[in-house]
Amino acid sequence: MDISGVEQRLKEAGQSHLLHLWLELGPEEQAQLLQDLGSLDFQEINRFFRCAMESSSGGEKEKLDSRMEPVPREALGSVTRDRERLETWKGIGLRHISQNKVAVLLLAGGQGTRLGVPYPKGMYDVGLPSRKSLFQLQAERILRLEQLAEQTHQTKCCIPWYIMTSARTMAATREFLSRHNFFGLRKENVILFQQGMLPAMDYSGKIILEAKGKISMAPDGNGGLYRALGTQGIVGDMEQRGIECVHVYGVDNILVKVADPSFIGFCIEKGADCGAKVVEKTDPAEPVGVLCKVDGRYQVVEYSEITSETAEKRGPDTHLVFNAGNITNHFFTLSFLKDVVNLHEPRLRHHVARKKIPFVNAKGQLIKPDSPNGIKMEKFIFDIFQFAKTFVVYEVVRDDEFSALKNADSQNGKDSPTTARQALMALHQRWVLNAGGHFISKTGTQLPAVHSNGAADQPIICEISPLVSYGGEGLERMVNGKKFCSPLVIDEAGVHQPALGE
Ligand code: UD1
Repeated sequence: MDISGVEQRLKEAGQSHLLHLWLELGPEEQAQLLQDLGSLDFQEINRFFRCAMESSSGGEKEKLDSRMEPVPREALGSVTRDRERLETWKGIGLRHISQNKVAVLLLAGGQGTRLGVPYPKGMYDVGLPSRKSLFQLQAERILRLEQLAEQTHQTKCCIPWYIMTSARTMAATREFLSRHNFFGLRKENVILFQQGMLPAMDYSGKIILEAKGKISMAPDGNGGLYRALGTQGIVGDMEQRGIECVHVYGVDNILVKVADPSFIGFCIEKGADCGAKVVEKTDPAEPVGVLCKVDGRYQVVEYSEITSETAEKRGPDTHLVFNAGNITNHFFTLSFLKDVVNLHEPRLRHHVARKKIPFVNAKGQLIKPDSPNGIKMEKFIFDIFQFAKTFVVYEVVRDDEFSALKNADSQNGKDSPTTARQALMALHQRWVLNAGGHFISKTGTQLPAVHSNGAADQPIICEISPLVSYGGEGLERMVNGKKFCSPLVIDEAGVHQPALGE
């Protein structure tokens, strides 16, 4: 690509300012900028900008609120209300897994800005006794689930793990997984692919430079998945493997039940092409989106898109009216995904996030603005729910399935490494209690159960390897009738009671 060709394309797209500081760049920076500019389709980017800005004009929140309705009962399954169906759903899910029809897909392209670490979130170690990262916990759950399906159906099986990264997270994720031998999974069944990036723009549609020779770029949102599924050949790979349904989830939920057979079985039994797991939202200010219907179609309305008046609305039973909290845990059939990739995705508009975006001004000075000065454009994973023919919602218990790692411990105390660690250990403690074990203090008195995420001041330290138990099963022979002091660790080598600090 030569400079005059690029100049012409920029001129036609009204983006000529990107070369204003060209003469101040060294040869290497010039070559890099030329390459970056050559890879962008400016007409398409301008079109994305126009469409995104059109649909994000003021007053949207109020307009949206009046069109929202809660999820109807007939679309809803629940682990508490439908307890008698759980074993059947689990059976259906395990059968599909044993037939190699189920894949999991991890969304790991986000920048983890709030957590503030310079590496991908999946590599984060929340401080469990085992020091396992989020990636390791997820990989080991896949391994254990394969084992459970194999034991039930007496056949070898595989759950391929697709991992969507971005230019920001790809290299580090690949290096980390390969350094750890894919945590016991076969390399060919861990498929990394990359989502797209889009430039940040100012409010007049000009692309922002973050350095004299560098465009400010960000991943195109977790809904960038659908474009990437097509461009990176992932749909084709799934077809070749005979995959029929895919469980998609976010990287930061330490309790995530990857390829949860009950959820998968529920969706299959209902004939759904698309489904979402939710937890009850009880605090109107919690930063989770709510699943609902808008103009009769399923959608997640994000926490940033709803007015506080609507978020706070309560029904006669005192529960929030919009209480189906989205936990980024979705089910799709492959045939639905194919329609999305081929037909629907190109028609989706980007959402607009107004941000403070550092930029280089016309004189080449770097400016760090105090207030939002531009936008990032993102598609959202749930933007395609509206196209489902049969959509279902599956409600699970928050303490068992959702504790997100979003913020550093130094921030506000919510959704932090500490709350994530405590939530996992409280869950594992309940598994031990359910399997007939007890916890006693150092002086021998029985300790009460912890029922909510990290409620105790001095939580019991209890960690059970996913390689031993996926969802609390198989622990009786190790713990029934036994008394344990904290810390308790159960892994493939057995039951350990190491001294604190070991
Ligand atoms: C997300 C959900 C929100 C939900 C909450 C629960 C979306 C758009 N919003 O919000 O409804 O209540 O989680 O925790 O899904 N990601 C990418 N590429 C990107 C951006 C994000 O792969 O370009 C991934 C992240 O790595 C993460 C997931 O998507 O695994 C969620 O992203 P995040 O930015 O943390 O979403 P939230 O704002 O917390």
